[in-house]
Amino acid sequence: MRSTKGPALANRLQAIPPFHVMEVVRIAEELELQGVDVIHLEVGEPDFPTSASVIDRACEALRAGKTRYTDARGIKPLRDALSNWYVSKGLDIPSDRIQITVGASGGLLLAFAATTNPGSRVLMADPAYPCNPRFVEAVGADVHWIKTDVTTQFQPTLAQLREKATDIDRTLILAHPANPTGQAVPQVELEQMSKWCQHTNRHLIVDEIYQNLSFNDALTSSLAISDWHFVVGSFSKYFNMTGWRLGWLVIPEYAVEATQRLAQHLFICAPSFAQEAALACFEHDSLRDAETHRLELKERRDLLIPRLEAMGFKIAAEPDGAFYVFVDISDIAKDSQQFCAELICKTGVAITPGIDFSESLPPTWIRIAYTQPADRLLEALERMARFIYD
Ligand SMILES: Cc1ncc(COP(=O)(O)O)c(C=O)c1O
Repeated sequence: MRSTKGPALANRLQAIPPFHVMEVVRIAEELELQGVDVIHLEVGEPDFPTSASVIDRACEALRAGKTRYTDARGIKPLRDALSNWYVSKGLDIPSDRIQITVGASGGLLLAFAATTNPGSRVLMADPAYPCNPRFVEAVGADVHWIKTDVTTQFQPTLAQLREKATDIDRTLILAHPANPTGQAVPQVELEQMSKWCQHTNRHLIVDEIYQNLSFNDALTSSLAISDWHFVVGSFSKYFNMTGWRLGWLVIPEYAVEATQRLAQHLFICAPSFAQEAALACFEHDSLRDAETHRLELKERRDLLIPRLEAMGFKIAAEPDGAFYVFVDISDIAKDSQQFCAELICKTGVAITPGIDFSESLPPTWIRIAYTQPADRLLEALERMARFIYD
């Protein structure tokens, strides 16, 4: 007989807020079962397929028996390939500082576990990627939220850190560019916050999962400023490999050996055949595909933003990269959750309420992921316009 009774679960489970977008996802599923054409702009993953050469390499790897544990740091050829990729961008990151991880998620968990003691706090921008607080809680630490707004691209500033940080704030996490805004940390602030971390003996983690999906040629990796911090990378978004669960962590020299030891204990290794397959990411065809997709995302951004503005949506600033736009709908609706639920029910357009990313912002923000081709985006805009104005 199945029973739902058991010992009390860990307190941290009680603090996990629901994903409000799941209500949108639920309605979308129901509508699709009824044959409604749903336009998905809610999911945080690219709509492009994984490059054919990566898939071929995975099949070869599986047939060749590459199904066992690998070196805990990741296979050497993949770490070398990443190191060479950084070299091609003018950055000198030796492969022995690169740890292959189970997605950026594995990299974030590893970085927090390596840097932050139970009882310490992590300085984090609000709004943020909603999984980040969970990684922090998993290592027994707390989040110290730094409220941000449109005036600073929803990124924290040195002035705020100086004013708010206390001795128990041991780590700062930045996302460059960020989810849900697609906005990067301005170069000067990045330099200043990096120096502040060094001078005050705090760890810095920069999530650069969207850095290669940047539309601004001047936007560089934080590693061009300093290599004294942790940088989280991923094959998920730029290489369209969300389901392969593969990422990497660039570890600062002072933490390499200890962090790699911890990675071995936490994960043993990242999926072996996915690591073999990812070698093909750095070949001509895959890099060409990835670049084509990046440029397509830029075109979609440029198509979407003026049209959203013309419809009365307020866009804080043009996103620097990724595939999200964070939009203030206060001139149109006062409750984004209700707006998203009604929009999906009446039009079949699925978007994400902003409260999934922030508890402090007014509930009038939404995130639109432009993870659909241009014709579908235009169709979504048309349906939204009819919903708002008819
Ligand atoms: C900012 C940010 N960091 C990390 C992740 C996790 O990515 P991965 O699929 O590589 O684990 C995501 C996924 O959406 C994200 O938006």
